[in-house]
Amino acid sequence: MITRDITLEDCILDLIDNSVDGAWQLLGGAPMSLDDNSDLSNYCIRISLSEDQFEIRDNCGGITLDEASEYAFTFGRKDEVGEEDYSIGVYGIGMKRAIFKMGSEIQITSTYKDNGKKSFKVPIDVNNWLAKEDRNWDFDLESADNLTEPGVRIVVNKLNEDTSSSFSSPAFIQNLRRTISRDYALHLARGLVVSINNEPVVGWQIRMLLGDAFAPMRQDYVEIVDGGSVRVEMLAGMAAAPPESSEPDVDDRREDRNGWYVVCNGRIVVAADKTSITGWGTDGWPQWHPQYSGFIGLVMFTAQAAKLLPLTTTKRSVDSSSGVYRKAKPAMREASKAWIAYTNERKQALPEARRLEAHTQPISIREVTRRESVSLPSLIARPVIPMANISYTVSRDRVRLLAQAYGNINFSYKDVGVRSFEDAYSELVGDE
Ligand SMILES: Nc1ncnc2c1ncn2[C@@H]1O[C@H](COP(=O)(O)OP(=O)(O)O)[C@@H](O)[C@H]1O
Ligand SMILES: [Mg+2]
Repeated sequence: MITRDITLEDCILDLIDNSVDGAWQLLGGAPMSLDDNSDLSNYCIRISLSEDQFEIRDNCGGITLDEASEYAFTFGRKDEVGEEDYSIGVYGIGMKRAIFKMGSEIQITSTYKDNGKKSFKVPIDVNNWLAKEDRNWDFDLESADNLTEPGVRIVVNKLNEDTSSSFSSPAFIQNLRRTISRDYALHLARGLVVSINNEPVVGWQIRMLLGDAFAPMRQDYVEIVDGGSVRVEMLAGMAAAPPESSEPDVDDRREDRNGWYVVCNGRIVVAADKTSITGWGTDGWPQWHPQYSGFIGLVMFTAQAAKLLPLTTTKRSVDSSSGVYRKAKPAMREASKAWIAYTNERKQALPEARRLEAHTQPISIREVTRRESVSLPSLIARPVIPMANISYTVSRDRVRLLAQAYGNINFSYKDVGVRSFEDAYSELVGDE
């Protein structure tokens, strides 16, 4: 049953989370804030997918024997080990759920440092394990050869039918790449390597536009909650100029980056959100409309204990009832509403708006300086001058003769019409 409420893609992300948590711990387990400069470029997560096998291997330190026997290969948390390390693991279920979802012949190998390198492996034959009569659900650990570097290697064979067909689908792999590029953008930007079938995933570089008239907001505060504290960093503003037309661009939908992002301990758990989860259409805040494209907002929650984060069990959404999250909403709303107002105003002063928007530079989110609210230009709507269209018919010969008199036989009818109007105007009405 535990494999039902999670997608195959999310299972793979769960395994990546474990590797990332491992790497983060090796670096000393600092909070992952925007200002943090941790270098992850020594860490690699290699994923291979094919019709008949799944493999993930990392060099992120491995699972120790203690972790394995106390926690990783049992169900539920036996004690409080490793809970306070700025990780994203919290339920002690991700790895088991992921491998059971994929197939029935599993081997996990771990090499870790403990006075030199030590290793063990855990072979799991799911069908035999389920058929066990003694109700001892623990897995057996066996001795194993060392992996080249301390880390974890998980191989799944005998893939389930659905898994096998997904893994042989180029579309599945392309989507997976896109998701990893976006959801681990902050890790990839710090040098982490994630490869799929030997090809590294290129991380999405989050950029905001900065100019004389435009500057993103950036706030930072600490929320004291039951059991600890949560750091909240928020950043929002223009990432691209609004679209020329408000029709949704069908081709662009899949690459759509607009909306709010919620980040928990570095992992993007909600991306490009335009739903009520991040406030759209609630509390006097309008529903998302393509007119608002160009806006990006990021709210990052960081806590030593992952259980304090506003995360759901699948780690792919936020728990809207969480107090820390609810408290962040008013500031998110202010930023969104300022942008909405700007996109409305700009319709009355398009040329001016476009000129100002063109005078901006993309900057990385780490370069955004602190500012209480989003800076946007206040545009002065120009009065619209009522226009008239003149249309009349004369013989072609007479137009040609007039063109010739103007000195250019090639003038268009329109040129001749406009010139003769201007002449008549200045003679009879005078200069403006
Ligand atoms: N790739 C890995 N590198 C290091 N440790 C790992 C790795 N995968 C799993 N672990 C260990 O196994 C534990 C159980 O993982 P998991 O079932 O995903 O639960 P959770 O991540 O919620 O703690 C992790 O807390 C971690 O200690
Ligand atoms: Mg996990």
